[in-house]
Amino acid sequence: MANREHWGTRLGLILAVTGNAVGLGNFLRFPVQAAKYHGGAFMIPYFVSFLILGIPLMWVEWSMGRYGGVRGHGTSPGVFHLLWKNRAAKYLGVIGIVCPLTIVVYYTYIASWTVGYSIFSLCQDLPKVEHAGSLEESLHPFSGFLSEYIGTGELFLIPSSLAYVIFTLTLFVSIWVLARGISRGIELLAKVAMPLLFLFAIFLVIRVFTLDAPVRPENNPLKGLAFLWEPNFSKLLDLNIWLAAAGQMFFTLSLGMGAILTYASYLREKDDIALSGLTTAATNEFAEVVLGGSIAIPAAVVFFGVSHAETIAQEGAFRLAFVSMPAVFSFIPFGHLFGFLWFGLLFFAGITSIVALAQPAIAFLEDEFAVERKHAAWYVGGFLFLSSHIPIFINGTLDELDFWAGTFFITLFAAVEIILFFWVFDSEKAWKEINRGAEVRIPGIFFYICKYVTPIVLIIIFVGWMVQYGWQEVVKTSLPKWIARGYLMIFFAGAGFLVHMAWRKKRTTQ
Ligand code: ALA
Repeated sequence: MANREHWGTRLGLILAVTGNAVGLGNFLRFPVQAAKYHGGAFMIPYFVSFLILGIPLMWVEWSMGRYGGVRGHGTSPGVFHLLWKNRAAKYLGVIGIVCPLTIVVYYTYIASWTVGYSIFSLCQDLPKVEHAGSLEESLHPFSGFLSEYIGTGELFLIPSSLAYVIFTLTLFVSIWVLARGISRGIELLAKVAMPLLFLFAIFLVIRVFTLDAPVRPENNPLKGLAFLWEPNFSKLLDLNIWLAAAGQMFFTLSLGMGAILTYASYLREKDDIALSGLTTAATNEFAEVVLGGSIAIPAAVVFFGVSHAETIAQEGAFRLAFVSMPAVFSFIPFGHLFGFLWFGLLFFAGITSIVALAQPAIAFLEDEFAVERKHAAWYVGGFLFLSSHIPIFINGTLDELDFWAGTFFITLFAAVEIILFFWVFDSEKAWKEINRGAEVRIPGIFFYICKYVTPIVLIIIFVGWMVQYGWQEVVKTSLPKWIARGYLMIFFAGAGFLVHMAWRKKRTTQ
């Protein structure tokens, strides 16, 4: 068994896993989802999801990863094969490589926009709006600017050359970090990026809460907070809100993606999981609920009012980041500096998640084919570079890839993971694994939550979501959808073939 790398320090590990989880999801996806699903009504299912899905799955992924890592396998094909002595197990694990890497294919491109926009903001090149008119008038110059940056078109998008160059550089830097390895690359990046991210976020929260309303004096930041937090118990029976809250929980904690599992595979056999897993989950929630919830939406409420903020939230995370927030900054004195902080914050959040989502593919090549780390990183980088041309140039493919990788497969994969660990592998052994080296005593009730509640809830969520939305999406057809689906099918087939080859090689060399 090749010598696997390990995390250098406990702090580095916690920061790296937190960086894995804290991403664009915390500062963009969360406020948009919360506002879209009536703020307070969303938060109750969200916290319930944290307790019965987030925390249990976090421990499960950490312990599956550590279990596999000490036996030489840091990705789900190898880990599943160890847990379930069935020929199908390793093929099921292919999802844990294809899904995170597919997310990187479009996520890197979006993260690269934040670099472009932080430069535009600092150089004061973003549009300027002197007087806030209607929402449409205020946002129009910024929508136009974004369209020019990333291109518009029915089928083909031709981005500006700057967008293309910055994307290439963003990917290059991410792969360069990965090529340096676990402690000299990923851990070092997290030690620099995470403190800066928290610093930038705290600055922005303070700025948002000291804002005056330039347009309507009745709008203040507290109204923005109330918009997100006012409880609304009447909506609690709406299944859609529960599905959205659970989906956000997976996305924000990077669960069901295989990425936490791979990071945990660099632990040592007796390293603690209970406290570290809980700490990273809790830090992510702080970044999401306290910081993420106190920037974009309250700022939008101050400048545009509650009902317009709701419209902005309905239009999605990308418009919030690249259209509405630059408009808000254009009204603030020294707004260009705050805009720089906002895009810098998103960049740090993005790059620490990119490296986490690309690492499973690299670990797979290293563990199963003994490819040297540097080479594995650049092979994966080359693959990502070519694949990213699909969402960059073909309109509609980004959303389709996000539907499959960012929603469908992560929910499915999370269900597969916990069922494999607690039912196929054996619940007593799984519980022992979670508690090995634990620095805190995990309450016994979590055993029953992991064994019964989480799998049942996951199955209900997956089936409920398929019936409500998923199925309608699956039967829709269009050229971009088929291009994205075709790409995914080829990717799955290729990854499945590699898994097949890896185990064939093992059989012949045994
Ligand atoms: N967990 C990462 C995010 O929130 C993927 O963006």
